[in-house]
Amino acid sequence: MEEIILKIDGMNVSCLPGSSILEAAKSAGITIPSLCFHPDLKPFGACRLCLVEEISSGRLFASCVTPAAPGMVIVTNSDRIQRHRRNIVRLMMAEHPESCLVCSKGNRCELREIAAALGIGESRLYPMPNVKSFEQVNPFIVRDLTKCILCSKCIRVDHELVVVGAVDYNLRGFKSRPATLHDLPLENSSCTFCGSCVSACPTGALSPNTDTFVGTPERESISICGFCGVGCSLLMGSAGDSIVEVNPSGKSDTVNGSTLCVKGHFAYDFLQSQERLNYPLLRTDNGWERISWSAALELAGSKLLEIKKEYGPTSLAFLGSSKCTNEENYLFQKMARLFFGTNNVDSGGYLSGRFALQGLSDRLGRVSLRKPLSSISKASAILVLGADPTQSAPVAGYYIKRAAKSGLPLVEINPRKTGLSSLATFHLGVVPSTDLAALAAIAKCLAEQGWIDHAFIDQCTTGFQDFYSKLKTLEFNHLCAIAGIDPEAIKGTCKLLAGKRIAFVVGSGILRQKHGPHVLDAIVDLALMSGSLGDRGGVYILARECNEMGSWDMGSAPDFLPGPYPLSDEEKRKQIERLWKTKISPDPGLNMIRIIEEAEKGHLKALYIMGENPLRNLPGEDRIKRAFKKLEFLIVQDIFQNETTEMADLVMPGAAVTEKAGSFTNLEGRIQCFEPVVKPPGEAMPDWEILDSLMLLLGQSQRYGSLARIRKEIARVVPEYFALATDGIGGWVKGETALFSGEHGGEEIRIPFSRRIEIGQQAKESSLSMRVIFGSTRFHMGSGTRTGRSRRITRFCPDGFAEISAHDAESLGLQEGDKIRIKNQNGSVVKKIKVNRDQPEGMVFLPWGFDNNDARVLIHLSQFGGPDFEGWNSCRANVQKV
Ligand code: SF4
Ligand code: SF4
Ligand code: SF4
Ligand code: FES
Repeated sequence: MEEIILKIDGMNVSCLPGSSILEAAKSAGITIPSLCFHPDLKPFGACRLCLVEEISSGRLFASCVTPAAPGMVIVTNSDRIQRHRRNIVRLMMAEHPESCLVCSKGNRCELREIAAALGIGESRLYPMPNVKSFEQVNPFIVRDLTKCILCSKCIRVDHELVVVGAVDYNLRGFKSRPATLHDLPLENSSCTFCGSCVSACPTGALSPNTDTFVGTPERESISICGFCGVGCSLLMGSAGDSIVEVNPSGKSDTVNGSTLCVKGHFAYDFLQSQERLNYPLLRTDNGWERISWSAALELAGSKLLEIKKEYGPTSLAFLGSSKCTNEENYLFQKMARLFFGTNNVDSGGYLSGRFALQGLSDRLGRVSLRKPLSSISKASAILVLGADPTQSAPVAGYYIKRAAKSGLPLVEINPRKTGLSSLATFHLGVVPSTDLAALAAIAKCLAEQGWIDHAFIDQCTTGFQDFYSKLKTLEFNHLCAIAGIDPEAIKGTCKLLAGKRIAFVVGSGILRQKHGPHVLDAIVDLALMSGSLGDRGGVYILARECNEMGSWDMGSAPDFLPGPYPLSDEEKRKQIERLWKTKISPDPGLNMIRIIEEAEKGHLKALYIMGENPLRNLPGEDRIKRAFKKLEFLIVQDIFQNETTEMADLVMPGAAVTEKAGSFTNLEGRIQCFEPVVKPPGEAMPDWEILDSLMLLLGQSQRYGSLARIRKEIARVVPEYFALATDGIGGWVKGETALFSGEHGGEEIRIPFSRRIEIGQQAKESSLSMRVIFGSTRFHMGSGTRTGRSRRITRFCPDGFAEISAHDAESLGLQEGDKIRIKNQNGSVVKKIKVNRDQPEGMVFLPWGFDNNDARVLIHLSQFGGPDFEGWNSCRANVQKV
């Protein structure tokens, strides 16, 4: 594309056609004052501060909405322009209250900055304050619209970036202000409290709700959100030892740009919890005794070695965390394998359905399921399965909503409607755990209609004919009946998807279900049929926790070494053995559930838990307690006193993500490094430093002493992490795009179709009347160990709830807010109901994370994929009015 050349302030400036004068000036380092311009939003031209003058015509333009044209001669700072700008700012200030000294925006108010730069101390116009009520009932956002300058950034962020539509202009002229529908308080609107509008607001009209006046933070540091697998980049403001404010870092090369969700924006106050662990603690007959770090480490090392000597390596197990960093997970699993000779090492990633993903690595070979979320918009259709990203991974949800809003066809397969449904062309309300039948019906319809990518199938796959002949034997209407979906809706979906490269977005409704691995296989088959791998389309896995992918890459799994290379890969195993100078057993160790089962049987003698809380994450609390009581030694390293530390013999205080340096790998395969923002409390230490000290005691020849040395070793073992060692910034785990570059070109790669087509079975009759669906809300992460300690989150939603349909509420004689008991053979919970008019009959939605995560009591503690595994996405239960 030919560039445009124009002159700005005497400089020749080139830019691409379509650029505004303001953008062209910015690219040349020329600053034009602006209040309503935002690089991620469509220009709006509201404030007129960005006026510039064109010399030939003498006209004044708002530079943010005026396209640059060849040959223009522009000045940005003439006396005439300055005069106009001063008048505009004076008019704004005449409307503005005189409360700058106590405004929470402090010295970062853009209006104040611009006024100062223009030499305006006071308005000198007749003051006409536009007084509006001060709204601060909700714990997240304070609205003081008296300070609003009508820049519309909040409205545009809300509509264009997070696609919620909670606010828009209300009234006209002087009275006009951003407002919710019917001007209700935010808490009674569709607002999700993502706070992205607060970060964009140039004045103190929108600000975070804090207990005390915060003002301008003393320091600002870049960090990464430690909640979900999206891995948003944060700008954290701190004062003293506390974090006082969080905003999106706003960098263009981040996953979140100028957005966040409610957890990342506001739930950081869990760090100030009174239950933070400050010192190493030893259980004694008289209760907890505070001990020194040297005593704690000495005891941990000697006890573990003693138990290994007496009972052998398999009597020990190590449970790491996908909330801990790559460096910490690497050291943790290395310690288990090198010093204790055991593969009994796992992490919380197990609970997110890693078992479902493991089988795919054999089938896909080098093809990765990690792709940039930005590539979703390059597909020509989106199919979301078993996920409500608007709740579980909101920033990933923004990508899907933006793509759908721009016209990309969206289909969702989910038992209940989600935050995406209003944008979807088809919502296929599948019977829980029958996605296999729904996908087989779609595959059959696409294949029989010839709506498939023959060229891709010929060049990049094997086994299609065999697969197709099996599809032909299936009866379409029977498949639809199993899935409980109208055949016409499936046919309509197929017509919509015909010839399209599809982005498949997969959530925990699939990964945690009984048929998870087979459903993933069926999704890959559909991706192969539609040519949806490579640079357009593909499979996007919504990892639940911040470093789920990284902890797996680092080998925090009983059957994988760092890489992740399967233990059975002899060549890789030998390579790592040479590097670590040890022997590694090729036999898989115990996963998280098997660790508990073996402890229950008395076979496991010692367990070291780092950053996990199985007594809150897992069902079967009493069983786990009994199992842990049988251990000779339980070490728990965590940031809080919690249900699991209560059972420990030794507790070691770790540091939270904002209190240490490290790196996470997000669901896209983006490796992101971060530095500490504040100090850990008391004597708490970063987990990698604890492990480094312990490994020295266990016989490591010297300390790593720095993250740089750990990263260097990681890069030798896992070459895809080389960037971590070279620049300390991060990089990307390579995806498959390069393997399918161009139109089916690039390196030859052949992926087999499934040899069998699984379709599951029609749901059996059950004496339990209702189907319970488990899921996330945007307010809690996982089991709520951290978000349950956020004052803001618990103030806003102190209790859990159960959603039922209007029909079921009526037949049970229930009103909104009445209580029900949900009971099955595993346990029972009592919840207040919310009536959801979109909920299918016979279904109860029960979210995780509330009330000590009590939803889990309805699930049987069993191994994922084992013979008695019924899935963690849903169960059957009876419901009664209490
Ligand atoms: S509330 Fe803030 S962002 Fe919204 S229009 Fe007013 S000044 Fe702009
Ligand atoms: S907090 Fe988020 S959802 Fe609510 S109005 Fe602002 S941008 Fe919209
Ligand atoms: S919880 Fe997830 S989506 Fe929300 S800010 Fe954190 S990383 Fe982003
Ligand atoms: S920045 Fe151009 S009109 Fe506001």
